[in-house]
Amino acid sequence: MNKFINKFIVTAVILFAGITSGQVRLQERFNWRQLDWVFPNQQIRDRAIASGDYIPTNGLPVGIERWQNKLFVTVPRWRNGIPAVLNYIDMNRTPSGSPALIPYPSLEQNVAGDCANGLSTVYRIKADRCGRLWVLDTGTIGIGNTTQNVCPYALNVFDLATDRRIRRYEFRPEDTNPNTFIANIAVDIGRNCEDTFAYFSDELGYGLISYSWEQNRSWRFEHSFFFPDPLRGDFNIAGLNFQWGEEGIFGMALSPIQNDGFRKLYFSPLASHREFSVSTRILRDANRVEESYHDFTYFVEERAGNAHTTSRVMSDDGIMLFNLIDQNSVGCWNSATAYTPQNHAVVDRDDETMVFPADVKIDETNTVWVISDRMPVFLIANLDYTDINFRIFSAPLDTLLQGTVCANGRRTPNRFSPFGFFDYTADALSPGYQSPNLIGFAGATSQILRSSTPKAFAYNEHNNVAIKTESPSTYFSNFHSNFDDRNLFDYQKKNTWNNRNYYF
Ligand SMILES: *[C@@H]1O[C@H](CO)[C@@H](O)[C@H](O)[C@H]1NC(C)=O
Ligand SMILES: *[C@@H]1O[C@H](CO)[C@@H](O)[C@H](O)[C@H]1NC(C)=O
Repeated sequence: MNKFINKFIVTAVILFAGITSGQVRLQERFNWRQLDWVFPNQQIRDRAIASGDYIPTNGLPVGIERWQNKLFVTVPRWRNGIPAVLNYIDMNRTPSGSPALIPYPSLEQNVAGDCANGLSTVYRIKADRCGRLWVLDTGTIGIGNTTQNVCPYALNVFDLATDRRIRRYEFRPEDTNPNTFIANIAVDIGRNCEDTFAYFSDELGYGLISYSWEQNRSWRFEHSFFFPDPLRGDFNIAGLNFQWGEEGIFGMALSPIQNDGFRKLYFSPLASHREFSVSTRILRDANRVEESYHDFTYFVEERAGNAHTTSRVMSDDGIMLFNLIDQNSVGCWNSATAYTPQNHAVVDRDDETMVFPADVKIDETNTVWVISDRMPVFLIANLDYTDINFRIFSAPLDTLLQGTVCANGRRTPNRFSPFGFFDYTADALSPGYQSPNLIGFAGATSQILRSSTPKAFAYNEHNNVAIKTESPSTYFSNFHSNFDDRNLFDYQKKNTWNNRNYYF
């Protein structure tokens, strides 16, 4: 009881301070003590719990992406008992709260070890402006010394309009090596939807893999800029000290298209405070795998302080946002300015709610999304499942940048070009481009239930959102009315969902 009161007072003080200084920035939209999934029906859920195929305390969400009413959430199979690795929240039905995750595109297509049809483990994902969702299946189960490679690395691309997988591409053996670990993806749309490339950073194998959608093939770059900095392998997060000294190239962000017609790919190794870049002119050309050493560039100044980062994104007008995992915060940099600490700012920080902000995204409406998951506590110690561990925040980009150095001299163009950059000169919108749909709150009409945190409540109050908590059974009838359980069980028998050999 005392603990509760203290917490309430602390939160109230933080809220008050926030309001008085105008600092309420990232708003808490969703939170969970532990993750739950929407199963086809209660019987399947009960059976999954009984068999260990669903273990509520084993799920850690790491990646997010927003597309229309869907907010995707990925959950790697680091431990057993993860029913689905690629999931979403339907924001029309549950605009906030602690909703159960809905497997995408289905539970059957999330079966571990079913290499041709399933997904074993997925980290960060990307929805593009052509309505495609880019998902790399690492084919792994486990983490660190428990990792098993049950399937090859394979890119899966889904058509978001039909929820059908429209491509599966297995990486060539030469694209990876025995140390390979890939958790990040960047998608580079050029002249049109066909002219698209995806880039994958190999953190522990120290490589960068390019994939051409048009040519349906891949190639791999290697460079010493992908290596960790031996002086930057020490981490202090959530009161834990640990060494992640081997961690190389990790977070990536693509710039808008530059005057030469190409983007810049910015990247940082995880054990590093440095920033590097390379033009997509190089990455798009398989012939440049050799002899491109000098085409990779670096910034002389490092990020200041403890500035490890695992995820970054760049807006259509060249503002980079990046997570600062040692600082429980999200940073910004305006790429029109020099890459120096004076030109970096923190857009939001919270030492309780933003411990390990694992992923940062900007959607089509220029809304920023951040997920925090206390990952080092999960990996190195133990999460307290009576406490809220996972949170998803959102805020308009402009609100986040207000009053920071990143907003200085920022142009405020009023129209998008269709392929991911602001077009300052075009007179008309290109044909075929539709305004992105704003989040529809119309579906949320149920009574206001007690919200789980004051911050989420503040969000809901200010946005006139009724918090809607639905029992999974409501979902059963609405999402899976055509689902035939017998097929799932046959499927599992034939495939490996229940085969404990695939787990560690
Ligand atoms: C894996 O590593 C952990 C910690 O580093 C250690 O405690 C454990 O014994 C290792 N397991 C195996 C199978 O090597
Ligand atoms: C792309 O290449 C893979 C081989 O890795 C092949 O299985 C697939 O059918 C190809 N897809 C297309 C659309 O050509």
